Amino acid sequence: MSLVINGFSAQGSTLVTYPSSPRLAASIRISIRVVSFAIERLKLLTRRKFLYTGAITGASFAALGADGFVQSKHIEIKKIEISLARLPEAFDGFTIAQLSDFHYEDHFSVFPIRESVQIVNSLNPDLIVLTGDFITVPIVDTHSRNARKAAKSAAPCAAILRDLKAPMGKFATLGNHDANADPPRVIGALREHGIPVLVNRSVPVERGSARIWLAGIDDALDGRPDLGAAIENLPSGETVVLLAHEPDFADEAALSPIDLQLSGHSHGGQIWFPIIGAPWLPPLARNYPRGLYNVGKLVLYTNLGIGTIRAPIRINCPPEVTLITLRATKHKMS
Ligand SMILES: [Fe+2]
Repeated sequence: MSLVINGFSAQGSTLVTYPSSPRLAASIRISIRVVSFAIERLKLLTRRKFLYTGAITGASFAALGADGFVQSKHIEIKKIEISLARLPEAFDGFTIAQLSDFHYEDHFSVFPIRESVQIVNSLNPDLIVLTGDFITVPIVDTHSRNARKAAKSAAPCAAILRDLKAPMGKFATLGNHDANADPPRVIGALREHGIPVLVNRSVPVERGSARIWLAGIDDALDGRPDLGAAIENLPSGETVVLLAHEPDFADEAALSPIDLQLSGHSHGGQIWFPIIGAPWLPPLARNYPRGLYNVGKLVLYTNLGIGTIRAPIRINCPPEVTLITLRATKHKMS
C-alpha cells in the first residue's frame, strides 16, 4: 500500500508517491538529498567526467540507495594480533597501522581520508604503512596518455597524509592506479610530504638492538615488481614485512622468506552480499579479497581501503583502519 504525501525535489515542492513505511520513506528522502548533492558537485567537473561519473553514480544510487553512500563514510577500526615465528622478542607488542586505497578526489574522499588520519594518530601506532592507490585513473583513461593527468591528485592526498604520526615513521608502496598514471609524480608528492615510497627495496626497522625489515614492491599489475631486488641484501633469518598493493601477490611472495604481507586493492569489492560475496573483484584481489589469510608460511592481511572508485558507494565493505599488533601467540581479530 502506498501513501501520497507532499515531498520535495532539488527544485522545490513536488508531489511524490512514497511507501507507507516511515523508514523506507525516510530512506527515499535521504536518497533524493544525496543525489541532489551529487548532481551539484558533479556540475563542477568537466563535461566528459560529468557524463561518465554521473552515469555510474546515478546507476549505483538507483540500485543501492543512500545506504551505500552513508556506509562509505563510516570508518571501521580493525584490531588484529598476528603471530610471526621469526619475530624478535623485542618486537612483541609492536604495532603497525595500515591505511590503503585513498583514491583522492575533491568531493567524496577528502572527509574519510582526514578522519582516517585522526583515527590512526589516536591509536598511537609504532609504525604506519600506506598500501597504495593514492589517486584514481578514470576507467575511460586507463592505459592512455590522459592517465598521467590523474597523478595531480597525489599532492593534495599527501598533504593530508603528512599529518600521520608514528615514532618509527610512515612508509608507502604504489598501487595500480599510481603506477598507471605517473609514478614519479606520485612518489615525489609523497616524499615531499615526509612519506618514503618503497619500490623494490627495503628498510630496517629497529627496536633496541633488534631489527625487522619493511620491504615494498612496485605495483604487481601496472608496475615492474621485483621482489628479489626488494629483499636481495637482507640477512637470512630476519623478519620481513612486505607491502604489496595486490593481495594475490601473496602466492608469489610465499615462495620467498616473507613473514607478513600487507595489501589493499580489493575494497572488498565495495559491494559484498551475504552468501554471494562480491559481484566483482579486481584482478589480483580474487583469491584473498578481505581480512586475514595464511598462504603457506606467509601471513597476509587485506585491508578494505578508505576511498572508493567508480561510485562513492560501499555495502558491507566499510572503509577501514587496521591496527596490527605483532605477537608470538596465535592471531585473533576483534
Ligand atoms: Fe588498486
